Amino acid sequence: MIRLSKSSVGPSEKEAVSAVMDRGFFGMGAEVAAFESELSSFLDRPVACTVNGTAALQLALQACGIGPGDEVLVQSLTYVASFQAISATGAKPVACDVIENTMTLDPEDARRRLTERTRAIMPIHFSGGVGDIDAIYKLAEEHNLRVIEDAAHAFGTTLNDQYVGGFGDVVCFSFDGIKNITSGEGGCVCSADEAVMSRVRDLRLLGVKGDSTKRAAGERTWAPDVEEQGWRYHMSDLMAAIGRAQLRRLPEFAAQRRALVDQYRHRFDGNNMIRCLQFAPRSEVTPHIFVIQLANGIDRENVRALLTEQGIQTGVHYYPNHWLSYYAGSSESALPVTEKIAGQILSLPLHFDLTSQDVDFVCDQVEAAIASNAGTPV
Ligand SMILES: Cc1ncc(COP(=O)(O)O)c(C=O)c1O
Repeated sequence: MIRLSKSSVGPSEKEAVSAVMDRGFFGMGAEVAAFESELSSFLDRPVACTVNGTAALQLALQACGIGPGDEVLVQSLTYVASFQAISATGAKPVACDVIENTMTLDPEDARRRLTERTRAIMPIHFSGGVGDIDAIYKLAEEHNLRVIEDAAHAFGTTLNDQYVGGFGDVVCFSFDGIKNITSGEGGCVCSADEAVMSRVRDLRLLGVKGDSTKRAAGERTWAPDVEEQGWRYHMSDLMAAIGRAQLRRLPEFAAQRRALVDQYRHRFDGNNMIRCLQFAPRSEVTPHIFVIQLANGIDRENVRALLTEQGIQTGVHYYPNHWLSYYAGSSESALPVTEKIAGQILSLPLHFDLTSQDVDFVCDQVEAAIASNAGTPV
């Protein structure tokens, strides 16, 4: 089976985990502090690690003061985690449409969905690409909105030679098992806004004020103060040990992901039944997933079934969130692009252990499966 996605860990991750096990302390301590400091040097921004990317988003929103009665603009075409993080704060996710060729938030559609309750906008860096990020920040500036970037897919992507996370308002990453780097599960929040970062650090430790600093020094707060609802969303030293080893390997991970995506693009170039995503100019993307859009009329589920028969795992990123029962009220009006492409998108295998021969085989099989289906060019 050629897997859709996969963690890739080697001797360095195993040694790092084993060293933490030998120390006999698995909580949040020196290893998390070291991971944060390394991430912070890498991104040139303060960083706070969390138990996963969803928690990072929820804490970032709460730390920006977003809660009940507020609305957050977010594309419907995202993992349900983005929506859940918003609704967990008590705020309402407002489903927006995407730009077809980048599958990122459409700023003009978002503008049409502004109300007096809109407080923030959450662009998703789909597959690693930042989309029309300048227009998102312009919209935010005009309407005094916080921008919480869901950069779960974009660790290692650069824009204007700066890493995503190193600029912008508040940026959240996921380090779950299949992301560009992993800490097993995990995530982080980065921002230059010290008030937000300090609140995130307290909120991740049940709201106990200043406990993050104590824990980094191997201590704890025994006479705590808590001023608001917090969560047990901190990272553990075991996870940070994996994350630190993976961060050192980012250059090889990024190079391999880029090479595989280039190969896919090259193979599909000129095939008018398949469209590949476009990435923003001035940006070098470290792609997390490889999504193609099939021509109208091609039966995507039939293509998937034929690929499964050939031992190729595929996926669909994503099922629109405004179609979920819980979020049925998130869109007041239609999302034409999302609704059109929802049945056309297909994710093909992409991970560090995938070989160039694998990609050739996948492309051969995709082309054969499409040839047996009728379609009108994309
Ligand atoms: C777009 C997006 N946002 C948020 C998340 C949540 O991250 P995590 O799984 O670490 O909670 C993911 C994870 O897959 C994601 O793909």
